[in-house]
Amino acid sequence: MPVRFGGKAASTRPPHDFEMKRTHHCNELRPAHVGQTVTLSGWVHSRRDLGGVIFIDIRDREGRTQTVFDPSDLPADLFARAEKLRSECVVSVTGKVRGRPDGTNNAKIATGEVEVAVTALEVLNMADVLPFPVDDPEVAAKVNEELRLKYRYLDLRRPEMARNLRLRSKAAIATRQFMDEQGFLEVETPILFKSTPEGAREFLVPNRREPGTFYALPQSPQQFKQILMVGGVERYYQLARCFRDEDQRADRQLEFTQVDIEMSFIEREDIYALIEGLLKRVWKATLNADVPIPFKRLRFEEALNRYGADKPETRFEMQLADFTGEFRSSAFKVFSGAVASGGVVKALNAKGLAGATQGQIETMTEYARSFGAKGLAYIKVENGEWKSPIVKFFNDAEKQALIAKLGIEEGDLILFAADQWLNACEILGKIRLYCAEVLQSQGKLTIDPNRFDFLWVVDFPLLSFDKEQNRWYSSHHPFTAPVAEDVPLLKTEPKKVRGQHYDVVVNGVELGGGSIRIHQPDVQKTIFEDVLQIPPEETKLRFGYMLEAFRHGAPPHGGIALGFDRLCAILSGTPSIRDVIAFPKTAKGVDLMTDAPAPASARQLRELHIKSSDGKS
Ligand code: AMO
Ligand code: AMP
Repeated sequence: MPVRFGGKAASTRPPHDFEMKRTHHCNELRPAHVGQTVTLSGWVHSRRDLGGVIFIDIRDREGRTQTVFDPSDLPADLFARAEKLRSECVVSVTGKVRGRPDGTNNAKIATGEVEVAVTALEVLNMADVLPFPVDDPEVAAKVNEELRLKYRYLDLRRPEMARNLRLRSKAAIATRQFMDEQGFLEVETPILFKSTPEGAREFLVPNRREPGTFYALPQSPQQFKQILMVGGVERYYQLARCFRDEDQRADRQLEFTQVDIEMSFIEREDIYALIEGLLKRVWKATLNADVPIPFKRLRFEEALNRYGADKPETRFEMQLADFTGEFRSSAFKVFSGAVASGGVVKALNAKGLAGATQGQIETMTEYARSFGAKGLAYIKVENGEWKSPIVKFFNDAEKQALIAKLGIEEGDLILFAADQWLNACEILGKIRLYCAEVLQSQGKLTIDPNRFDFLWVVDFPLLSFDKEQNRWYSSHHPFTAPVAEDVPLLKTEPKKVRGQHYDVVVNGVELGGGSIRIHQPDVQKTIFEDVLQIPPEETKLRFGYMLEAFRHGAPPHGGIALGFDRLCAILSGTPSIRDVIAFPKTAKGVDLMTDAPAPASARQLRELHIKSSDGKS
């Protein structure tokens, strides 16, 4: 028999790892349980010693309960053991539930009206001194993220993280239930795949069996899901792991999860309706929130013109206005010059920011420059005056146009971008978000964190032009179908061709994207070879299997992928997807707990026929 600390010995049962099995979770006990003998198992959350009595809050996944070790009711050895307990030791306790003395209820926890008077204690494990406290949310919130990631198992014990994991699990289950009800099959697709053309850098896996050949980890299951449609599956979904070796940000990880979906014999409207239903269900199941459907729709061009982003944050206004016409022949050469070279002049009114200091305006200008701006002209409206180095160049008509379109009033700060259309929009889009943050920090703007502004962004351009390489590339991926009426423009005016692509956006976050696909092998071949100018041999090598599949009866089909980590971050109200991933990687792609990635042994490298360039193997 293993030695027990205070637990009663099991006589007839075979030996167990521990004796005192829980009867209740730590969130369950209420005044109705008073008088019952219960056993709780969990971690020592906090400990207070008062007048010789020890109060220990025991915490498990579900909540917390106060337990009381009173030396006058307990054998001395048991009390002595309790005295040795410190934060995060693992224990089981048995005792009688009793009401708390008057005035000592704790309204902050569900079990705050009762406590357990301990009669037996089993210490299941001791805990080292903690690198950071788990019990104090305010202190924990300030702990450096690297430390949290190194000791992720402690971090996951914090109620905030536990809540995020629970929300994630609920969201996954709601997704699976909904998709199942809609007749979708969950199909797993390979992780060991080959290079695909979705734009991101890939992770390669060397193939031991044939030196010099590699698998690639999938950026998404795009090709497989399309081939599943050729395979007659009709409705596919998967909570799919995807791998992209791209720069890490708060909303990007090297490996992440998509709710990946594909359907046959459908058009765009079917996808919109499906996703609206799915998100409505997920929000209801996790937050008990009612998402209004259908979602608004914004054309790509309109989203940029009004919000300066293809993933607009629409919970506040501060929309962009266009002054290209008004400044075409302006005396201010920065503006008229930009228009003369085919550009535009855009402006926004940051209401209430006229008080910005010169230093703050310079910071904002530098920020705009980091997105390629050539400058950030401004007007401050203070004491009835327009304070600006450029107003002297404006004539009355130009001033009137600004007043009329921007509703200029005392206290406003007007900011301008003169550039090519997309640049000007995107620069002011970033400045719009920046100003909103400043206004929020000054209490002049409130954005409701419980409001979810879902919308569809549609009518994206199918192709974008790469000046350096002097060729067109797919705005999304090369399998997106052009809008039917634009097909004749493919070879003559590729810029004008709209793709049957759609993004679903919420509160300024691109939650997902997808498209109706090309299902005719000849159209797909034209896109690869004539439009994207991929040489025929390369097309054959990289996508031959797809073109071949399409020649064997491909149904019309389309789909979408939602970023599941982003979805969970929005549900959890956290700005970083790292907070909804159990074991995320840092910005440098490192898992600080396990220290992955790590060097491989010389033997492994030899087996894989790999020689590192430092000559070590
Ligand atoms: P796309 O590349 O737009 O489309 O990806 C779809 C969604 O996946 C999420 N996402 C990411 N989340 C975390 N970390 C990343 N590095 C990351 N990259 C993307 C985003 C994004 O909206 N195969 C197509 C979908 C389709 O056409 O059906 C695809 O992968 O939320
Ligand atoms: P300059 O004539 O270059 O000194 O610029 C005068 C003002 O216009 C400064 O506030 C610049 O930041 C701003 N500015 C310069 N180029 C641009 C541009 N392309 N768009 C918006 N503002 C600009």
